[in-house]
Amino acid sequence: MNDAMVAARSDEAQLAVPAYTFRRITRLEQRLTRRFALADTAITLPRTGISYRIARPAAFDPLLLAAANDPEDHLPYWTLVWPSGIALADRVLMECEQFVGQRVLELGCGLGITATAAVAAGASVVVTDYAATALLICQLNALRNTGRTPITLQLNWRRPPFALWSWAQTPFAHVLAADVLYEERDVEPLLHLVERLLAPEGMLWLAEPGRPVARHFIEAALQRGWHDEVRQQAGPWYAPLDAGVIVHVHCLRRSR
Ligand SMILES: C[S@@+](CC[C@H](N)C(=O)[O-])C[C@H]1O[C@@H](n2cnc3c(N)ncnc32)[C@H](O)[C@@H]1O
Repeated sequence: MNDAMVAARSDEAQLAVPAYTFRRITRLEQRLTRRFALADTAITLPRTGISYRIARPAAFDPLLLAAANDPEDHLPYWTLVWPSGIALADRVLMECEQFVGQRVLELGCGLGITATAAVAAGASVVVTDYAATALLICQLNALRNTGRTPITLQLNWRRPPFALWSWAQTPFAHVLAADVLYEERDVEPLLHLVERLLAPEGMLWLAEPGRPVARHFIEAALQRGWHDEVRQQAGPWYAPLDAGVIVHVHCLRRSR
């Protein structure tokens, strides 16, 4: 280790990171801990066996209370570890040759487990979420685990901001979406968004745990000429309550 390297604190291991990365990690942790206490979780991806150290809010209930007046009735689901995010991270790493050097957009990044995998795979990643704090914690998790961060953009996919279209002047090669389809009102906006943002030959990677809304999205996509290849993943997942959840990882492309 040279002078520019310092040892980052870790329960599992002492990771050597450049001093500027360590300072960025510390700044992000400080910004987040002004809002809530952070807890650390080790997440192991079941197929690749890769482990990430993921920061998340230590408690859900205060954030639930804080969301009570949200104009869109948006609940802080971004704070939780979801099987779909883990399954999609695993799939990205298994297919990493498809992602290296590619422009990738993630919709609803949450804690950033999938985004971390996409950054690790060598993609140039833009992450989006309704919750500004999710974007910060996603940056922290990507930085801790890969030494790099995705670009972040706060958005409500029901009313996408102008900034999104300027990012999409060059379309994305891949769009990632893990467990974002649980409200019927999101089927049309999300399909419309993906159709505008994805390159004609691009791929939408959608991970979902069998919710009816996701099935409606897939049906609508197939009717509009998309082609679906789906694989199932059975865990094990992080939360004991998720035991038995089967995640469907769809790879959707437009038919030529
Ligand atoms: C169930 S969580 C999944 C998070 C992450 N993809 C994962 O699998 O761990 C759904 C995510 O979508 C985001 N989301 C929900 N509605 C949204 C909207 N209208 N616009 C943008 N993001 C939204 C939430 O904030 C949350 O991060």
